[in-house]
Amino acid sequence: MTSKTNLTINSQRLWDHLMHTAQMGGTPKGGIKRLTVSDEDKRVRDWFKAECESLGCKVEVDEVGNMFATRAGKHNHLKPIAMGSHLDTQPTGGKFDGVLGVLGALEAMRTLVDMNYETNAPIMIANWTNEEGSRFAPAMLCSGVYAGVFTPEFAWSREDRSGINLGDELVRIGYKGQHKAGAIKFGAMFELHIEQGPILEAEEKMIGVVTGVQGMRWYEVNVTGQESHTGATPMTLRKNALLAAAHMISAIDDIGFDHLPGVASVGLIENKPNSRNVVPGEVFFTVDLRHPDENVLDKMEAAFRQDIAEIADHCRVTFEEKCIWKSPAVQFAPELISCVRDGVAKAGFASRDMASGAGHDAAYIARVAPTTMIFVPCLGGISHNEAESTTQEECAAGTQVLLNSVLAYDASLA
Ligand code: GLV
Ligand code: MN
Ligand code: MN
Repeated sequence: MTSKTNLTINSQRLWDHLMHTAQMGGTPKGGIKRLTVSDEDKRVRDWFKAECESLGCKVEVDEVGNMFATRAGKHNHLKPIAMGSHLDTQPTGGKFDGVLGVLGALEAMRTLVDMNYETNAPIMIANWTNEEGSRFAPAMLCSGVYAGVFTPEFAWSREDRSGINLGDELVRIGYKGQHKAGAIKFGAMFELHIEQGPILEAEEKMIGVVTGVQGMRWYEVNVTGQESHTGATPMTLRKNALLAAAHMISAIDDIGFDHLPGVASVGLIENKPNSRNVVPGEVFFTVDLRHPDENVLDKMEAAFRQDIAEIADHCRVTFEEKCIWKSPAVQFAPELISCVRDGVAKAGFASRDMASGAGHDAAYIARVAPTTMIFVPCLGGISHNEAESTTQEECAAGTQVLLNSVLAYDASLA
């Protein structure tokens, strides 16, 4: 076995794998639609499993579909060092969100194998189920089960908007594994990801050294008015659920502006009966509030609740509101951040510290193991969009830093 430590990843091979798997759920606009636990997700999982096995890794799946591929080290009593992210995407997702973190990890693993390099600890790649929370809310669901935030039963019972549950879908695609969630242990995790925001590009920095993730809260709102004839119902006598929802959405947007750098969004809305000559009687919509400071998030929540109650009253409709998810702000592990700094210095890239605006599996994994993240730029900061774009050079840079960081941590275990 070699003891060479300046291992260099293969940029072209990484890129080819990113482009190859992008066809699994590929969209005409160049993005990916690979909703979690769908047929497309099964295809990419099967491919990933076969690739890991061809590298001599042991691949295991837990009861919520999380996948773990492990390569033995010199000292197999040590807990593995994990690299991980997610292969699921938004309905109009890009080619890099999540995927880079898994395929970058695969490239790092392949480099170790190619060079016959023996690490002290075993090395692991994790593919977390349902990071996006788009098909089944909430986000980061199965890393959350792994970390003990949710029970497996809670995850299995999550339904998509057509009433299909995650547990049945895992069985259908053959990825409801034997292992208890949380039973496949590792000692640390590094997650490589695109920034999904504009800062690195604007400052011409290649690498974001991620220090933490902001707090996030998700809510669901049902507004009930009264269906009536659009021609025959005078304006003054309507109970228009969609109009009330429109005012609520506008008020929620204002809450973001009133609590900067906080953000407040409505992303999903269903209007019933959605007929052009019926005054809408029922609207369902989702709310996403985020801020790095939990105390400010409390204030945003209070403002949201007060505003929707006042608007409902004014519009003569009723509503139900439920908080379905709270993910508190997270600080990553200083000892891992320091390995990333070493990894960046060794590769010679310009970097800056930053907090993540997006949610990531790393936020939950940080509760059970030292964890951190590495960001690379994305064009115009655009993500959750088919146009999401990170260059081959940037993907390779992040992957090199990922490998360097893992090796720095591994060296500290010697
Ligand atoms: C996950 O992508 C999130 O930040 O919502
Ligand atoms: Mn992601
Ligand atoms: Mn995402």
